[in-house]
Amino acid sequence: MAIQTRPKGTPKPLGQLTAKNLSASAKMQPTEEERDQTDHTAAVSHPNAEAPPPPSPSQPLSKNAQKKLLKQQKFEAKKAEKKAAEKLHKKLEAERKRKEWDEKLASLSEEEKSKLIESRRGMRKDRMEKRSKEREMKIERLARAKESGQNVVIDLEFADLMAANEIHSLVQQIMYCYAVNGRCAAPAHLWLAGYQGEMESQLQRLPGFDKWIIEKDKRPYIETFQDRKEHLVYLTADSETIVDELDPKKIYIVGGLVDRNRWKGITMKKAEEQMIQTAKLPIGNFLKMSSSQVLTVNQVVEILLKFLETRDWKSSFFDVIPQRKRFEADSEKCEGETEGEENEKHDNNDVKKQCTGTKEV
Ligand SMILES: C[S@@+](CC[C@H](N)C(=O)[O-])C[C@H]1O[C@@H](n2cnc3c(N)ncnc32)[C@H](O)[C@@H]1O
Repeated sequence: MAIQTRPKGTPKPLGQLTAKNLSASAKMQPTEEERDQTDHTAAVSHPNAEAPPPPSPSQPLSKNAQKKLLKQQKFEAKKAEKKAAEKLHKKLEAERKRKEWDEKLASLSEEEKSKLIESRRGMRKDRMEKRSKEREMKIERLARAKESGQNVVIDLEFADLMAANEIHSLVQQIMYCYAVNGRCAAPAHLWLAGYQGEMESQLQRLPGFDKWIIEKDKRPYIETFQDRKEHLVYLTADSETIVDELDPKKIYIVGGLVDRNRWKGITMKKAEEQMIQTAKLPIGNFLKMSSSQVLTVNQVVEILLKFLETRDWKSSFFDVIPQRKRFEADSEKCEGETEGEENEKHDNNDVKKQCTGTKEV
C-alpha cells in the first residue's frame, strides 16, 4: 500500500456528479480573506499563476481587497514594463550583432568571407540537428510514458466554477506542466480529462496543442477508469491521508482549479461522493508554509514529477514551492498568501516557447 490511510468515516454516495451540483453542495462559507479575494475587480491575467477571482461589482471593496488589487496592478504594470524592456534589449542586441557581422565581413577578402559564411552555416546546421535530436528523444520519452509512466490526471471538470481569466490561468499552468513533463528523464503519463466548453476552446486555441503528446480525454476520469476505480487517488489538501510513496499502479488526480480556494473542499467532497481514495502531499512533514498548504496545479504536478525522479519529498518541495510561501526559521515570515499567487520562478515565455512552437511537442 503506497499511502498511509487514516480512515475518516464512510463516505456517503450521492447521485450523478456535475460541477454544478457539486458547487451547490461544496463548502461555500468564505472567510474574510476569501471575501476580499472575490472582491477583486481587475480582470488581469496571471500567466502561470492563479487569476484574480471573478468581479462582483455590487460589493464595495474592503481595505484588504483594495490593498491586494493595488498590489496586483503594480505587479502587472511592472511585468509589462519588464517585458517591454526585454523586447527592446533583444531588438538592440540583434541590431548590434548584425552590424558587427557586416563590419567583420567588410574587413575580409572574398575568400575569407566565403569561408566564414560557410563555417557559420555549418554551426547553424549542427545546432538544428542537435535540437531535432533532442526533440526526437523527447517524443520517445513521452511515448514511453504513455505505455508505462505514472498516471497523473488533471481533472478539468470544474470549468463551470471558474471565470474565463481563471480558466486562462489554468490553461497556462497546464502548458507549464506539459513542458516540465517533456523535460523529465522519466516523464509521467499525463492526462487531461473531462474538458469541454470554454476549457476546451481555450486549450484548442493553444498553438501546437493538437500535437501534444499527452492523453486527451473529454470524458470524466471516473468513466474512463471505471474498471480501475480502486486505483484512483484524488490528491487534495483536505484529505487526512498522507501520501508516502507514489504507487505505479495508482492513478493520481489533480483538481484543475484556479480558485484561490474559493471552492474550499470541493475536490475532497467530489472524491468522497465518488467513493475514491484521497491523499494529500506530505508537505507538513518537511516544511512549514507561510499560509495554507493548498498549491497550484502546476506546483503539484511538478512536485510529483520531481518525486518520481528523486524519490525525495523534501527536495521536491524545496525545489518547487517558492520560498516566499515557505516559513523557515532563518527567514522572516512573509505576507500571508493563499494558493496561487504569482509563481515568479516560472518564466511563462519559456513555457510558451517549449509548448507552442509548431515543431515542439
Ligand atoms: C488550486 S488547488 C484547488 C483547491 C480547491 N479548492 C480544492 O478543493 O481542491 C489545485 C489542486 O491541486 C491539488 N493540491 C493542491 N494542494 C495540494 C496538497 N497540499 N496536497 C495534495 N493535493 C494538492 C489538488 O488536487 C487541488 O484540487
